[in-house]
Amino acid sequence: MARSKISLIGAGNIGATMAHLCALRALGDVVLYDIVEGMPQGKALDISESGPIDGFDVTVTGTNAMADIAGSDVCIVTSGLARKPGMSRDDLLGINAKIISTVGQGIRDNAPGAFVIVITNPLDAMVTLMKRVTGFPKNRVVGMAGVLDSARYRTFLALELGVSVRSVEALVLGGHGDDMVPVRSSCTVGGVSVERLVKAERLDAIEQRTRQAGGEIVALLKTGSAFYSPAAAAIRMAEAFLYDRKEILPAAAYLEGEYGLRDLYVGVPVRIGAGGVEQVIEVPLNEREKQELVVSASHVTDLVGALDRVLAS
Ligand code: APR
Repeated sequence: MARSKISLIGAGNIGATMAHLCALRALGDVVLYDIVEGMPQGKALDISESGPIDGFDVTVTGTNAMADIAGSDVCIVTSGLARKPGMSRDDLLGINAKIISTVGQGIRDNAPGAFVIVITNPLDAMVTLMKRVTGFPKNRVVGMAGVLDSARYRTFLALELGVSVRSVEALVLGGHGDDMVPVRSSCTVGGVSVERLVKAERLDAIEQRTRQAGGEIVALLKTGSAFYSPAAAAIRMAEAFLYDRKEILPAAAYLEGEYGLRDLYVGVPVRIGAGGVEQVIEVPLNEREKQELVVSASHVTDLVGALDRVLAS
C-alpha cells in the first residue's frame, strides 16, 4: 500500500516540529515547504539523518516549489508570522491573510484532494479564508485550536490535582482567542465532575490561565509563540484522518446551524475520520457556557469582518 503524503506548508518552528513528529511516528512521507530558500531543505535533511538512529524510513523532503505537494493526503498550514510579546493573535490578520491567500491557491492547484488543517493565526479568520480560497468542502478544511486549548486546560487541572493528564477529560470551545470557552460542566477527572474536586475560585483562575496560555508562552519566549504543543495537536488531528479513527476532537469547524451558529468557523467537538470532519457533535452546555460561546462567536464574526476589509483594501 502506498504511504500517505503529508505536506507541511511553512517550515518554521511548528512546521519543523510536525515534520519530526511525522517521521518519528512513520505517519507518511513528508514534504516541508517554505519560501525561505535552503531552510526547509536543511531541516528535512537533518530530520532524515536521524532516521537511522530512530529507525524510521519515511522520506522527509524540503522544498520551495509548491508543485512538490502534488498528491498530498494532508496539508497542514503554518505559513505566516507568529506573535511577539505585546501582540494579540488578531494583530497578525493583515500580513497572514496575504500569505494564506497565496498558499491556499497553491494547495487548490496542486493538492486538490487534500484534507487541510490550518494553524496560522488569527486561526478562525485564516481557516475561513482557506476555505474560501481553495473552494474545498467544509469537511476538508479545519482549524487547529481546540485540541491545543483543551490540552492546556487538562495540563493545568492535572497540575492542580496532582493526577496524570490522562485522567483529565476537558473541552475548550469557541474562537481561538482570549474569550475561548473552557466547558467546566463537562470536565471530569477520573470520571468525577471537576466541580466536585476543585473550588469554583480555583477553577476560575485555571480557566483564565487556559485562555491566556498562548500569551504566557509568548511572554517567556520573547521571539515567537508556542510550537511543541500546537504541532502535537495538529498531528493528532492528521492521525485521526489518516487512520480513519473517527475520533472526537475539538476543532474549528464550519457551522451551519449547529450550536445556533451559522456560516462561520468556531471551535466545537467534531468527529474526524477518513471523511475529514465527518460530523459536528453538539454537547450540552449550561446557560453561562452558552452565553460565553455566543460572545466568542461574535468575536469571530468581527474578525471575519476585519478580514473582509483587509482583503478589500
Ligand atoms: N509560504 C510559505 N511559507 C511562508 C510564507 C509563504 N508565503 N510566508 C511565510 N512563511 C513561513 C516563514 O518563512 C516561516 O518559516 O512561515 C514560517 C512560520 O514559521 P515561524 O515564524 O517559526 O512561526 P510558527 O511558530 O511555526 O507559527 C506559525 O502558527 O500558531 C501560529 O501564530 C502562529 O501564525 C503563526 C503560525
